[in-house]
Amino acid sequence: MSGAPKIRFKTAERLRDINPFRVMTVLERARTLEAQGRSIVHLEVGEPDFVTAPPILKAGRAALAQGRTGYTPAAGLPQLRERIAVYYSDRHGVTVAPERIFVTPGASGALTLLAQMLLNPGDGVLMTDPGYPCNRNFVRLAGAEAQLVPVSAASNFQLTRSLLERYGRPNTRGVWVASPGNPTGTVLMAEELRTLSQWCDEHDTHLLVDEIYHGLDYIEGLPSALQISADTLVVNSFSKYFGMTGWRLGWFVVPDALVAASNILAQNLFIAASTVAQYAALRAFDPDTTEILEQRRHEFAQRRDFLSAVLQELGFSVLVPTQGAFYIYAGIEKFSDDSEHFCQALLEHFGVAVTPGTDFGNHENRTHVRFAFTTGMEQLQIAAERLRTAVNSGKLSR
Ligand SMILES: Cc1ncc(COP(=O)(O)O)c(C=O)c1O
Repeated sequence: MSGAPKIRFKTAERLRDINPFRVMTVLERARTLEAQGRSIVHLEVGEPDFVTAPPILKAGRAALAQGRTGYTPAAGLPQLRERIAVYYSDRHGVTVAPERIFVTPGASGALTLLAQMLLNPGDGVLMTDPGYPCNRNFVRLAGAEAQLVPVSAASNFQLTRSLLERYGRPNTRGVWVASPGNPTGTVLMAEELRTLSQWCDEHDTHLLVDEIYHGLDYIEGLPSALQISADTLVVNSFSKYFGMTGWRLGWFVVPDALVAASNILAQNLFIAASTVAQYAALRAFDPDTTEILEQRRHEFAQRRDFLSAVLQELGFSVLVPTQGAFYIYAGIEKFSDDSEHFCQALLEHFGVAVTPGTDFGNHENRTHVRFAFTTGMEQLQIAAERLRTAVNSGKLSR
């Protein structure tokens, strides 16, 4: 029977449009080269290079020592939900009832749940192109359509009212944005959020704002979308600013009307987020932790300044400043019109790993790459030297 089609192992139709995450392929290749003894500077990885802050680690160890190994309630530890509510009032001056806050396995868990909760097959969700690639797939896995809106420096790589007017369709049911965004590091300020929120009100469409890079911002007064409207769905995470990627812990906030449905889906999709991670995260907002996280933020800002200056000097186009997150989305028009080949050549010949624009959408994806400054200044200086050699080598274009 070998050679007969194996229907039982045929993957579902809904997987047809789900693309691999190319950054993981770059990372794998970089690790293989390292195993062969090559030195690689990692500018591809979207996670902080710092180990989780000591007070959080200590709280995690204590939770294990105390035998806290059972499930928590599906929505999360009540004391953690309260702590997150305090974070909103302290940091943003906005009151959020803890009942509206759900703790999840990463922002990924939150986005999966929200897509399943809000979208019917055939619905559309507007999102930026370029944007965080997994969002398209969360939407597609719910049977809905990712409605990609090409964005450029002209709108700070964010959605605007006129873009919503132009790209909205009769089946549009959601608008998903990220501030600060990945891969561009640009933000939405209060007035811009208000405009998007108004458009969504007028079109009976939900607005979801991914604030996973909040805290890692380099501007004054970055607002939470919850300050603008309690009807906005907000996603956040302990991964980035709080430096807890591997603990797999995030949260989302919903309006009262969606609390019951959120509970039911949380119970069914993952029962609860990791218990030890939740106990550890109770220390994430304390002043001694904040001091460490703020120092790290400062260091990210220095890296951003350094790398941005180097890239511009070498001829990359950096059309918008990185306002948050740890990415620079740079144009490579001067060197190549094939970002995948560019990234491959840069890695293979010069030992610098970066992510091609093709990971983040279709719009101008061949002439952009993403640099993640998730490595220290020493490594960045090595990267700068290698990039200088690379752009002068003629090996980066086909
Ligand atoms: C914009 C954005 N949203 C969500 C996520 C998912 O993060 P996590 O599941 O680690 O919280 C990421 C990860 O890189 C991201 O960049």
